[in-house]
Amino acid sequence: MFNLFKKTARLKDYSFLGVDLHSHLLPGIDDGAKSVTDSLALIGEMQQMGFRKLITTPHVMSDLYPNTPETILKQYQLVSDALAGEPGITAALHTAAEYLLDEQFGQKMAHGELLTLPGRRVLVEMSFISAPPQLDEYLFRLQAKGYRPLLAHPERYLFLRESFRRYFDLKERGCEFQLNILSLTGYYGKHVRENAFLLLREGLIDFLGTDLHHRQHAENLRLALEDPAIAKALRKMEFKNSELG
Ligand SMILES: [Fe+2]
Repeated sequence: MFNLFKKTARLKDYSFLGVDLHSHLLPGIDDGAKSVTDSLALIGEMQQMGFRKLITTPHVMSDLYPNTPETILKQYQLVSDALAGEPGITAALHTAAEYLLDEQFGQKMAHGELLTLPGRRVLVEMSFISAPPQLDEYLFRLQAKGYRPLLAHPERYLFLRESFRRYFDLKERGCEFQLNILSLTGYYGKHVRENAFLLLREGLIDFLGTDLHHRQHAENLRLALEDPAIAKALRKMEFKNSELG
């Protein structure tokens, strides 16, 4: 009986989410996939794990990865063409972007050149050391322009954990939260793991994402499926992933 419970306490796959909204699957434009072959392999892995739609989100960082809609859409077309020759891959690939809230973000927003997730959501991230001084201004301006800010991996900003109330403030300012599944495994360390479970318990998480960059992440996402504590924490929650198609 105990064994039976243990078996059913694990997640079979990620089909309960269906849609992933955060990954780095386009080749050569950030620290994710390195080639088209690599992209196809990673997409295949995600399909096997139960995702039927992938909205990939290349980094847009002015210093490190100065991507534009043009650089992203070009690589997206390349992978889409290659997928046409892969009948075994049925998962749908779409693209948006993950914007670092750096000094140049305001200009990108002003020029209306943001690639968005469904519902005009803009996936944003910030430094792991401190929040940008313009954070509140950016959140306000995004919404004034009809965008919906969606903060990637809030659990990884440990400076926010020190004043946990700040998470509630961000939600009140109209920010949705996307938690990385890998954070729950301890992949980014013990403190991030604790913070991830705490944010879930507080009901602050809207979306789960893989933030998949490479094969190692896929392996760890599979390991997460084996972890009864993760299954228990996720089973109680409802996420909005399916709203994205
Ligand atoms: Fe990411």
